[in-house]
Amino acid sequence: MRNLDELDVTEDITRFYQPELARVIAKQRLTTMMVLLRLQLASGELLDHSPGQFLQISLPGYGEAPISFCSSPTQTQSFGLCVQAVGNLSEAMHELRPGDFVGVRGPYGHGFPIEQMRGRDILCVAGGIGLAPLRSLINYVADRRSEFGRMILVYGARTPAERLFKDDLATWDARDDFETLYTVDNPSEDWTGRIGVVTIPLRDEVEIDPSRTTAAVVGPPVMYRFVAAELLAKKMAEDDVLFSLERRFKCGMGKCGHCQLNDLYVCQDGPVFRYTQLIGRSEAIEVWAPEDERE
Ligand SMILES: Cc1cc2nc3c(=O)[nH]c(=O)nc-3n(C[C@H](O)[C@H](O)[C@H](O)COP(=O)(O)OP(=O)(O)OC[C@H]3O[C@@H](n4cnc5c(N)ncnc54)[C@H](O)[C@@H]3O)c2cc1C
Ligand code: FES
Repeated sequence: MRNLDELDVTEDITRFYQPELARVIAKQRLTTMMVLLRLQLASGELLDHSPGQFLQISLPGYGEAPISFCSSPTQTQSFGLCVQAVGNLSEAMHELRPGDFVGVRGPYGHGFPIEQMRGRDILCVAGGIGLAPLRSLINYVADRRSEFGRMILVYGARTPAERLFKDDLATWDARDDFETLYTVDNPSEDWTGRIGVVTIPLRDEVEIDPSRTTAAVVGPPVMYRFVAAELLAKKMAEDDVLFSLERRFKCGMGKCGHCQLNDLYVCQDGPVFRYTQLIGRSEAIEVWAPEDERE
């Protein structure tokens, strides 16, 4: 895969915007709104991504958008993308079948700082579709289990039917070396698990050693300030709290300014940021959690 560091804007910009072809090799419907696609580069090259990074995905006539890897880089023969049908491109991606092709650019962005997380306890807090990028990290930790401390996952979905990756949820829950806390906002009649937003089990049931814990948080923007408050109440350092941000991207590689957040480019400096980087950048979290969106 081409290395973004090689980019010479005057000579190579077209080359770097040029997508490569990737073939869909498997498709699985996860919920009414979500499909999981497994892909391989048509060139046979392997993608070398980090958990938390994304690809710019394109389909001629439908556009281009960033989609996070939901597979671990330890799985090298193919990569996974979990797509929610919300608009032009993503709805067209729901119609893809094995054998079809998409355009891909990337991997782009700064994902989770794996090297600095090694040896530490990992606390993942996922809301809704936020489980997709975190699945990449969680399965990385699962495949390199001895290199990390505790693995704690707190996952909240709106309803039991909207829970993603139900097979993975069961697998992680069954592991002795994973601590899982799953909750839903609106239970179905047959739901026997926790009820309530993700911050409730996080606050009431998760005990951590803040000095050795890194938290990775991905979910709807409204969740972030409340999760941050709970983590800081547990005496976590702001530097050890990681958030993945979403913005509307165009180039995806720090050239167009479309995703700018004050002096940061979300696509290039993120999408994963330490909470420390976001403090004082009021648009990062606060504007996304207006009073009327809170429970
Ligand atoms: C780093 C990153 C990772 C992501 N990972 C994933 C992922 O793993 N899976 C996934 O499903 N999605 C992911 N997304 C979100 C995805 O890129 C967007 O939902 C994308 O817009 C979908 O493209 P589309 O053409 O299908 O929808 P669009 O046509 O772009 O429409 C999507 C929604 O945005 C609204 N919209 C359209 N134009 C604008 C505008 N100019 N300003 C504001 N709102 C507008 C539309 O009304 C619609 O509600 C990620 C985004 C980022 C930034
Ligand atoms: S999307 Fe172009 S700079 Fe981020």
